Amino acid sequence: MLKKYYEQSSVVGVLDTRSYYIPFGDKKDAFGCRKKSSRFIDLDGKWTIAEYDSPLSVPDDFYKTAPDHEIEVPSCVQYYGYDRFQYTNVNYPFPYDPPYVPNVNPCYHYQRKVAIKKAKGERYYLNFEGVDSCFYLYVNDEFAGFSQVAHRQSEFDVTDLIKNGENKLDVLVLKWCMGSYLEDQDKLRFTGIFRDVYILARPEGHVVDYKITTALDGTVTFALLGGTSATVELCGDKRTVNAGETATFKVENPRLWSAEEPNLYDMLIECNGEYIGERVGIRTTRVQNGVYLFNDKPIKLMGVNRHDFNPRTGATVTIENIIEDFTLMKKLNVNAIRTSHYPNRPEFYKLADEYGFYVMDESDLESHGVVARFTGYENANYDEIADDPQFRQAIIDRQKCNIGRDKNRPCVFAWSMGNECAYGDNFADALRWIKANDDRPVHYESLFHVNRKKHGEDYYYSEPVDMVSRMYPEPDWLIHGYLDDAKETRPLVLCEYCHSMGNGPGDFKEYWDIIRTSDRLMGGFVWEWADHGVLYGGVGQRYGGDFGETLHDGNFCMDGIISADRKLTQKSMEMKKAYEPVEFALGKDGVTVKSRNFFAAIVGTLTVTRKDMGRVLSVEKHAVSLAPGEQAVYPAAAAHVVIASLTLDKPVGLLEKGHELGRAGWTNESVHDYTDKHYKSVSITENGRYIGVVTPSAEYVVDKANAAITSIKGKNGELLKTPLALNLWRAPTDNDRNVRRDWENCRYYEIFSEVREVTAVGNCVRFTGKIAPVKLEPVAEYTLTYEFFDEGVSASIEYEFAGWTTFPPRVGLCAELDKSFDKVRYYGYGSNEAYIDRRYSCIKDVYEDSVDNMFVRYVKPQENGSHYGTELMEITDGKSTLRAEGDFSFSALPYSAATLTHTAHDWQLPEKTATHLSLDFFMSGIGSNSCGPWLKQEWQAPKKGKGFIALFVK
Ligand code: GAL
Ligand code: MG
Repeated sequence: MLKKYYEQSSVVGVLDTRSYYIPFGDKKDAFGCRKKSSRFIDLDGKWTIAEYDSPLSVPDDFYKTAPDHEIEVPSCVQYYGYDRFQYTNVNYPFPYDPPYVPNVNPCYHYQRKVAIKKAKGERYYLNFEGVDSCFYLYVNDEFAGFSQVAHRQSEFDVTDLIKNGENKLDVLVLKWCMGSYLEDQDKLRFTGIFRDVYILARPEGHVVDYKITTALDGTVTFALLGGTSATVELCGDKRTVNAGETATFKVENPRLWSAEEPNLYDMLIECNGEYIGERVGIRTTRVQNGVYLFNDKPIKLMGVNRHDFNPRTGATVTIENIIEDFTLMKKLNVNAIRTSHYPNRPEFYKLADEYGFYVMDESDLESHGVVARFTGYENANYDEIADDPQFRQAIIDRQKCNIGRDKNRPCVFAWSMGNECAYGDNFADALRWIKANDDRPVHYESLFHVNRKKHGEDYYYSEPVDMVSRMYPEPDWLIHGYLDDAKETRPLVLCEYCHSMGNGPGDFKEYWDIIRTSDRLMGGFVWEWADHGVLYGGVGQRYGGDFGETLHDGNFCMDGIISADRKLTQKSMEMKKAYEPVEFALGKDGVTVKSRNFFAAIVGTLTVTRKDMGRVLSVEKHAVSLAPGEQAVYPAAAAHVVIASLTLDKPVGLLEKGHELGRAGWTNESVHDYTDKHYKSVSITENGRYIGVVTPSAEYVVDKANAAITSIKGKNGELLKTPLALNLWRAPTDNDRNVRRDWENCRYYEIFSEVREVTAVGNCVRFTGKIAPVKLEPVAEYTLTYEFFDEGVSASIEYEFAGWTTFPPRVGLCAELDKSFDKVRYYGYGSNEAYIDRRYSCIKDVYEDSVDNMFVRYVKPQENGSHYGTELMEITDGKSTLRAEGDFSFSALPYSAATLTHTAHDWQLPEKTATHLSLDFFMSGIGSNSCGPWLKQEWQAPKKGKGFIALFVK
């Protein structure tokens, strides 16, 4: 029987965590790619694998058997057909009974051979950079150790176990272990050797661990924490240091490191024929007087939360994947990353040093599931694990794994103790360990959940966590909950905000308008960088519930600001706008551009385009060169629409020449392009249930039962496939997930606009009626007046919802047109989809688009593609044109709200059969209530309102 290390929290035979580095045999390679090192024996590649359903089924001498399937290492076994995919958020996917884990617990026996030329006097260290969740290691049939903590580096000294020639490695990976109670991060639960494996061949006496610290005057200190001695060279200065000693260097006129200017200095560390290349960033990170300072400047963190995730490989990500993410982040003006909720692979930090990102490095810790261990969610005993002595050492060790490994990385500006474990004695101890070992500020959002009854109110304020952190507060809380709190002396960071699930989030501007008002507000990290959709053996992306799991959290893992397959989305642009490195303003003298940078100059070209109802009047270019914080004005004469765009003249880091750093537009709202109406020849006749109207441009039929226009015949025949009727429904967005229940209770998805009174006077038909879903008292009363004229018909509405109802998704008219109506021209907020609260990246201008292109493909289909603030919209099949004028939102989409409501994945959408045109007097905002605050009242479609839209038939 296996020794049950997996139900204990300790490890066996694993060396103390040291800072991450790779020793090289050749001086000239020391700063190069690690696989080139002659001291690096690569163990990635083909291994063989065998599966057991339980540790109880694993034979004692399993390592003597030969697994007969192949697997590529690193990888997650789920992508090789083992086990199954499972996505859970808060809930533990196993019974809550620590330290025990289920007896049925898949085990994977990995095996491979490796030829080693064992040299005398050399030591051999076997390294695993990530194994989920724990593993037993055997070298040449001898037990070498046991490790857990999925995202840690596990290093074993295997010198005495390996031999010259062929060696055999056997690794038994278990899906669950005691550590799994501390790894309840909201993600797909993967298994396997998911990060690189290698052996380092090192001389007998060598460097073990060291720490580099810097000061703004160019002082760089190297402390040799473990090992024999080292010769260290920086900027031509060479020192020899013994273990326990420090050497101090002085860089003259240092070029400081920041995310804006990631300047690095090469430091060469040499010992007994071994060379380690360190790239040192000179910088400071600290909190002073309640303000967070990086290099003494009150920077803003324009951040994202990022998981190591790829849709085709799960938790296994390549360097190319990371660089791709970094490139996209730079394109979107992101300057900070929280490694939610565990340390990333070590090279991630070296790349962040090189390309420039402020990193909040989070320890591998989350025990959120304790709140769900009874039937509902119960926060009362949230600190169960945070206080439980059997987890104390593990919680401290997880800080050591993180800080011990990454302490020399300049990009790391703060340590995060973990996510959602609440606060208790174990964290108080862990915090003190960090404080004794590093001087970076410490973050821990869950301090907020400390049991105040037990510890007293002041404990929260006095625990030496260096910043206050919140997730998803109401924007207003930043002012009234935080800034106004006289007891609070720490700066505030939003470790998560703007929950980017589906169509959303709608509150970037709200947050940033506040964040930019005070140096005490550090900024925040969007939740989250990318969707976690799985691309495996299917036709499209899949999420929780698609793999036959009984416990899952559906599409709650689809909440990225970019897609799982790394495509920018329209919502990405909203974040990009909030994170722009410059501030634009239009005044009498022209466009003012002000740099928001703290360290780097902004150099590029400003293009000012002036337009009149879509027609370009002038395009002027200006060279821009702004020192940090500086501003300048560039000429721009008044026009209907003025657009300013700032682009790069040459490549900068990962950004290409021509990349747009920022863009703003201003629209003179008093310019309209309304069509004249004539009232010469309109005739109205009542005909039983229907009213017929003849005008020179079209013939109409109006239904007295429900006030719908059932037919519009223009010069080329019928325009409507279905009546143009009142509509309240939209396919709920993910952010509508809470209000959705109320909307469904109000049965807004199936309304009847019962007419109670009709009057036809002159060229007007006026309906008074009630919106009456079955079973309920009418939800609203309305009057709808159609006024017919030679060129078309206008609809004016006045309505009021009953007091007991919830605000509606929208109030508007909708109809199906033939699918050949696919060309659209509009004057409104675009070109990205625009809602009252999600149009920060949009400009009110004239756009041309197509129905297919306006459809925004969310993996879980939902309301999309609306354009707020539209004054005119034309849709045509090339022969007939329907034109709407007024002040409304519209969408023209290949699918109906009903189809979008009832389809689980984009790849299950049917062939399009029609164009679904919605003209909305009011469309509710989008918000971010999937996790964030309830939709603000100003953004809700009002319960009482008036609206007007005129339709022209051509
Ligand atoms: C937070 C949590 C994240 C994620 C998010 C919802 O509470 O920290 O890990 O679960 O909610 O998407
Ligand atoms: Mg959680």
